[in-house]
Amino acid sequence: MQDLLPAATGLRARFDRIRQATVDFAAPLSPEDCQAQSMTEASPVKWHLAHTTWFFETFVLGRPKGPLAFLFNSYYESLGGHADRARRGLLTRPSLREVLEYRRRIDEEVVAKVLNAETSDETIGRVELGLQHEQQHQELILTDVKHLFSLNPLHPSYAPAPASDGAAVAARDGWVDHPGGLVEIGSGGPGFAFDNERPRHRRHLEPFRLARRPVSAGDFLEFVEDGGYRRPELWLSDGWEAVRREGWQAPLYWDREGGDWQLFTLSGRRTLHLREPVCHVSYYEADAFARWAGARLPGEDEWEVVAEGSPVEGNFAESRRFHPSAAVDPGTARPIQLFGDVWEWTRSPYAAYPGYRPPSGAVGEYNAKFMVNQIVLRGGSCATPQTHARATYRNFFPPYARWLFAGLRLAADRDEGR
Ligand SMILES: [Fe+2]
Repeated sequence: MQDLLPAATGLRARFDRIRQATVDFAAPLSPEDCQAQSMTEASPVKWHLAHTTWFFETFVLGRPKGPLAFLFNSYYESLGGHADRARRGLLTRPSLREVLEYRRRIDEEVVAKVLNAETSDETIGRVELGLQHEQQHQELILTDVKHLFSLNPLHPSYAPAPASDGAAVAARDGWVDHPGGLVEIGSGGPGFAFDNERPRHRRHLEPFRLARRPVSAGDFLEFVEDGGYRRPELWLSDGWEAVRREGWQAPLYWDREGGDWQLFTLSGRRTLHLREPVCHVSYYEADAFARWAGARLPGEDEWEVVAEGSPVEGNFAESRRFHPSAAVDPGTARPIQLFGDVWEWTRSPYAAYPGYRPPSGAVGEYNAKFMVNQIVLRGGSCATPQTHARATYRNFFPPYARWLFAGLRLAADRDEGR
């Protein structure tokens, strides 16, 4: 037990910092902002604040039947049921003030009973899981607030507009070649990884190339202006169905005013910047763009072997830009912006790695039961906390989802070397 102390002490500091960061992300919002739910997939900020606390109460303090459990359990069926996801915005009680009080109460209890006490490895692991979960919800707060604000004709601003973008980006035809062959992906190390990132295992890759930078808004505008949204031959059948049903004509939050494309951001509405990475496209749109461009989306294994060993640096939530930025091209052969700015759609279905076993108990529901009908995204976004990103991280969303901070990077097959 003795050797746990340094780790647990470091954990205490991280616990305080990460729990406080969630409250800080909610700070610019009014109680009314925190109450509203803009669509089924998005949750009220008040709900995020409470649900992340419920997670600690349930999985760390071992109290799954607390009085708020039914309201703030998200989807854990083995814990005895939960409120309707689509009606979270109707939960006007408890109030925001009471939810913040609930947070303080549970935080004090976690510190007293777990972080300042002799604690088992398993409980320490649960605190770590709770913090990683908390960071996921920090990104969701920003993502959901953006969607909510986008529906307000006043175009509210969540944060001040960031300073202007970088000066240069790599040329569109810049690629990084990979010889393929037998590679390893997945997390095999002692550091934290979600269950879905394990085990590390072998894959065989054909030779491929990966674009040096994500697709920019300017690239995507060419696709729009080339009639990309009116050409069924570019789309997967389900994607074309979505285009017709939803009336998509451009990425989410783009709208044309006269000859100008406007964009809604967390700093309000402004002109589209052509050099910044395109954001808020679905998998269907990413896939159609790649086909139009004569390329394809990367496999998650291709993405990971290129990203492995790259520093996890970039435009994350800590930069408080809350929008993808054009990067200054360092002029090296390395790809840029693998981490931060936008999540990158891959072409990989979200499925278990070979040898995967979900953890036992309710916590096994965290990731495993979503392994169908979803697509893997890699890299992290301008709304992701930097310490939450890593090369093996697997985000996943349904292919029609557009409200997350997601863009794409192109990949292509290489014939040589076969
Ligand atoms: Fe959650």
